[in-house]
Amino acid sequence: MDQLNFPARVQLARLPTPLQPLDRITEKYSTPFDGPRIWVKRDDLTEAAMSGNKLRKLEFIAGAALEQGCDTLITCGGLQSNHCRTTALVGARLGLNVHLILRGEHSGEMDGNLLVDRLAGAKVSFYPQRQYFREQQEIFAHWEKVYADHGHRALLIPTGASDGLGIWGYLDGSRELLEDCRREGFEPEHVVCATGSAGTQAGLTLGFHLAGAKTQVTGYAVCDDESYFVRKVQEDVAQWASSNNQQFDEKTLRIAVNADYIGPGYGIAEEPVYRAIAEAAALEGLLLDPVYTGKAFDGLLRELARGRYRDCENLVFVHTGGHYGLFPHREHFSFLG
Ligand SMILES: Cc1ncc(COP(=O)(O)O)c(C=O)c1O
Repeated sequence: MDQLNFPARVQLARLPTPLQPLDRITEKYSTPFDGPRIWVKRDDLTEAAMSGNKLRKLEFIAGAALEQGCDTLITCGGLQSNHCRTTALVGARLGLNVHLILRGEHSGEMDGNLLVDRLAGAKVSFYPQRQYFREQQEIFAHWEKVYADHGHRALLIPTGASDGLGIWGYLDGSRELLEDCRREGFEPEHVVCATGSAGTQAGLTLGFHLAGAKTQVTGYAVCDDESYFVRKVQEDVAQWASSNNQQFDEKTLRIAVNADYIGPGYGIAEEPVYRAIAEAAALEGLLLDPVYTGKAFDGLLRELARGRYRDCENLVFVHTGGHYGLFPHREHFSFLG
């Protein structure tokens, strides 16, 4: 890892983020099943408003944008995309224009991430789901041309900033996490994160592999399926290798995806997820969201109960942020009374 030539980077995140034990969660949900001590890597604390996993990737994306003389960032995501919100704030922080291509019909209500997008001054265009998926390349090309026609140079950022450039964020994140763990006197057998566009999982998986660690990274999918994400991780790693002159066979990576807890679909959760969110908040003061971290955490608790991580000593859950995505789901917490 130390021999790698890191590309241009803009320092935006407050690193290192804390690594904390979740001892009350461990006692209640892991110890009875002979499971590991559960730790959390607090990447929800990479910043305040810009918080979350996307900021690690965007440090390198912003580095490339400035290096290439871009004054505009164009990216895409769902209406409540954490990635889009983070990009909007990063753009504002660096004095760059931001244009967001959002998937879905806008009801007119501004909430959660969408409110922050607008506060940060991002331009927002909404596209119906089918058109968004069918014409994504054309939509990007259209907006790139619109900006070019007005004398601007745009950098196009793929979904979730997950590609061979964004992967550097969690390549470095894996180095940091390994250092945190070693300081605490262990090397984790397992690291678990939510997977949506796979860049976080790709960076962690590659990073632990390059470090020669025994750690198995598992992405708990919030959409799509296992084969999609295995392929996506391999693609990001292959792109990283070819653009950095690395001889690396992505097929040698141990890529683990658990797609059993997606539930009804992306952005839709069932009651156990909301209850797991409430449990994490009440037991540990940890705020999760129903789209990513809460779904992954609920999946993790259920896998612990099934004995999946039996006889392991340490497992780290990477909290990838997403706080703003909690509030638009407020009506699902009526069980709190
Ligand atoms: C809060 C949060 N957690 C996890 C993820 C998943 O990360 P990735 O897109 O790198 O798979 C995302 C974005 O997709 C996210 O916003």
